[in-house]
Amino acid sequence: MIIDTAIATIATTPFDGQKPGTSGLRKKVKVFAQPHYAENFIQSVFDCVERDEGATLVIGGDGRYLNRQVIQTAIRMAAANGYGRVLVGQGGILSTPAASHVIRQYGASGGLVLSASHNPGGPDEDFGIKYNIANGGPAPESVTEAIYIRTTAIDSYLTVATPDVDLDTIGETDVAGMAVQVIDPVADYAALMERLFDFAAIRAAVAGGLTMTFDAMHAVTGPYAHEILERRLGFAPGTVKNGVPLEDFGGHHPDPNMVHAADLFATMFGDDAPDFGAASDGDGDRNLIVGRGIFVTPSDSLAMLAANAHLAPAYAGGLKGIARSMPTSAAADRVAAALNIPAFETPTGWKFFGNLLDAGMCTICGEESAGTGSDHVREKDGLWAVLLWLNILAVRGQSVAQIAAEHWARFGRNYYARHDYEALPTEAANALMADLTASLEALPGRAFGPLVVEAADSFAYTDPVDGSLSANQGLRVLFEGGSRIVFRLSGTGTEGATLRVYLERYEPESGDLAAQTSDMLADLIAAADAIAGITRHTGRSQPSVIT
Ligand code: G6P
Ligand code: ZN
Repeated sequence: MIIDTAIATIATTPFDGQKPGTSGLRKKVKVFAQPHYAENFIQSVFDCVERDEGATLVIGGDGRYLNRQVIQTAIRMAAANGYGRVLVGQGGILSTPAASHVIRQYGASGGLVLSASHNPGGPDEDFGIKYNIANGGPAPESVTEAIYIRTTAIDSYLTVATPDVDLDTIGETDVAGMAVQVIDPVADYAALMERLFDFAAIRAAVAGGLTMTFDAMHAVTGPYAHEILERRLGFAPGTVKNGVPLEDFGGHHPDPNMVHAADLFATMFGDDAPDFGAASDGDGDRNLIVGRGIFVTPSDSLAMLAANAHLAPAYAGGLKGIARSMPTSAAADRVAAALNIPAFETPTGWKFFGNLLDAGMCTICGEESAGTGSDHVREKDGLWAVLLWLNILAVRGQSVAQIAAEHWARFGRNYYARHDYEALPTEAANALMADLTASLEALPGRAFGPLVVEAADSFAYTDPVDGSLSANQGLRVLFEGGSRIVFRLSGTGTEGATLRVYLERYEPESGDLAAQTSDMLADLIAAADAIAGITRHTGRSQPSVIT
């Protein structure tokens, strides 16, 4: 067969709306599947990002519908655009944290991560493309903005007419002069985890009876969890549930929360609950932590992991600092204060942690949206959080409930919940935010039930490393005594607008530390509606999801 490896220039016209959101470009599969749609975006990425001729590009995804097809497209375009090497995970699979690690380990100039994270997959569901830079982290706003501007003017893209690469066989293929290496998606990542954590201690605890269940949600973490939890750590076969990645995640939302991981909750609150339960999302960067009979909120998990991280080898020397996104509860700040290390409050989106991690200003980061991670990669990392919890459980020899109780007794407890109002008409959501923004100035001093507003503002962040300013990152209403409501529109939805209302009540060490979260937040829930007119603007009297 004679293959024409000449570079072809294909004429195209811009598509509206190729603006990357909180985490890359996410659209319905039907949108992505339009001729030239993915190509336009990928070419715009290649046109804007920093790379030398012959650079290495990492490509991988969470295995969802369209993954393989877009990978083939991206490989051909990379060859035509002067990349020297593509590293791609076998089967097109790379979890987001594993992709971050591979980019760093092999000195790639960046990577394309194909995922819509926790959103459902399949022909009628979601797809996404995110670009990560050479540090392994999501491209910063300056880069995503440049990519977006490029998409509005693009008139051609480059590709080659080569056959599909066999993604299922590990090894190297030549694509129009560019090397494509299909790599084991798990090996490098598993080796990294083994360096960070005390696997021997965890193995001993497992041998001593420690049990767990892990729900991979038919998403990308299945192969990673089988290898690490069952093969390397010795948890019983069957510990990993739903461990085979499926293009439609078995028809479920691969979103590890109380709603979509209901089975896990039922197990962990049931009679024969194992000691520890966890789940991860579509692309493996989120985590859900449940002990026997106790749900650990992501905000609390961050605080508890930070307080105990020194028990794992990688963090035995202490933490440099702790960073959290603004809507994440302040529980981690109290740990930072006790450890006498800095606490950072960034806008929502993992990319804002990148500079702090690169500059060595913080070691552990986390978000209320079920993301926790450290300076080992530049993404949040679901299995990392699971392994750090296991390391802590193994060393302390206590249950999750005991560890939580001792934590709250020492630092106080930040009762916390997030109420999401999904698929709202965009105009209604925008009107709510606009009215609320206009009313912020008049809020301080006003009382809502027993709550008195101390301050209210629109959160803006100046990056301490590069000085860049990110404004309008959510509306905060702070009450006397440390309670708080944050209002924010989601940046990751693909249908209408999603209003997120983050509710937080602080109880000091001497306060009520063992109450029901919903009881403790009742006054804040009432205040949120009174302050923002949620029902008036949206017609909804209840959130769609509470996490
Ligand atoms: C993605 C990002 C997270 C971020 C989350 C927020 O998962 O990786 O860093 O916290 O989106 O999503 P939202 O829908 O609230 O904008
Ligand atoms: Zn994710």
